[in-house]
Amino acid sequence: MTEIILHEPLDMHLHLRDGAMLRIVAPLSAHSFSGALIMPNLVPPVTDAESMRAYRKRILAAIGDETFEPYMTLFFKPEYDLDFLAPMAEELTAVKLYPAGITTNSEGGVSGFDIEELRPALGALSELGIPLCIHGETGGFVMDREKEFVPIYEALADAFPDLTIIMEHITTAESVAALDRHPNLYATITLHHLLITLDDVAGGMLQPHLFCKPIAKRPEDREALLQAALDAHPKVMFGSDSAPHPQHAKECPGCAAGVFTAPIALPALAELFARHGKLENLQHFVSSNAQRIYGLNPPKKKVRLTDTPMRVPEKYGEVVPMFAGEEIGWSIDAVSVK
Ligand code: DOR
Ligand code: ZN
Repeated sequence: MTEIILHEPLDMHLHLRDGAMLRIVAPLSAHSFSGALIMPNLVPPVTDAESMRAYRKRILAAIGDETFEPYMTLFFKPEYDLDFLAPMAEELTAVKLYPAGITTNSEGGVSGFDIEELRPALGALSELGIPLCIHGETGGFVMDREKEFVPIYEALADAFPDLTIIMEHITTAESVAALDRHPNLYATITLHHLLITLDDVAGGMLQPHLFCKPIAKRPEDREALLQAALDAHPKVMFGSDSAPHPQHAKECPGCAAGVFTAPIALPALAELFARHGKLENLQHFVSSNAQRIYGLNPPKKKVRLTDTPMRVPEKYGEVVPMFAGEEIGWSIDAVSVK
């Protein structure tokens, strides 16, 4: 039997939603992760200290006794400034910027990327040392959206050299390459983008549970992502972008974007890293890099995984997970909190 013990695993991009959905999905992440960066795209989005604090309380109530830190974010608005952000800086781990209308619940996001217009808000984040997480896609052709956004990432990185910019859920070789050109650019990579290409989504019968934004790309893109993750690129972190939608919102015309991976993420990652002979690098990808980049000190948690297969449930509540009903070669054997 092969095993790995992960210390303080972190999911640096997680959608927990609210209400009944929050109560179903939050305990699943809280069981195996020490903490997660919580996305603010609720309806309405989390845009002030009061709603951020209230959401954090609802998350803590939903996870019960689990040891888990919800690292909170705010939905970026161009009108943010130093006076607005400074009083909540201690409680904010990051601010998340969405281009307007690019994905689920992002209608109130940014239109156009005029650096001078964004200067008060981004200057304030830079001054306060709050990282900016960006969903980097233009409104162009769906396969080219992320590639077209790279010059915007680069312009922002140059204009705000002291601002930590996280390119969220990168899916292309161009994004991986951009990491090495700017000291202040970092990235998260999802589990599903390490595993699938567009062929898995739409190459045969349409697979709604693998449909997400950004859409999965070409084999050479997945290869570049895999290499960065498996080699423990120091600027790359695991962010699942686990995005639960009820089954009826996925299996219908107008399928919602999002892959639900939270409960299977660590076993599937262990299987992937083991298959490539890189298990020793998983700790960097799922925790150490994020701790260093964000300056986090997560609650202690040890997760022991072994190469004992697990059968993935068909559903968690009304949500169908990735690999529903299938077997994953690895499973969680024990979780301990020191
Ligand atoms: O597939 C996605 N789902 N991509 C996102 O950017 C948002 C997410 C969601 O909130 O459902
Ligand atoms: Zn997301």
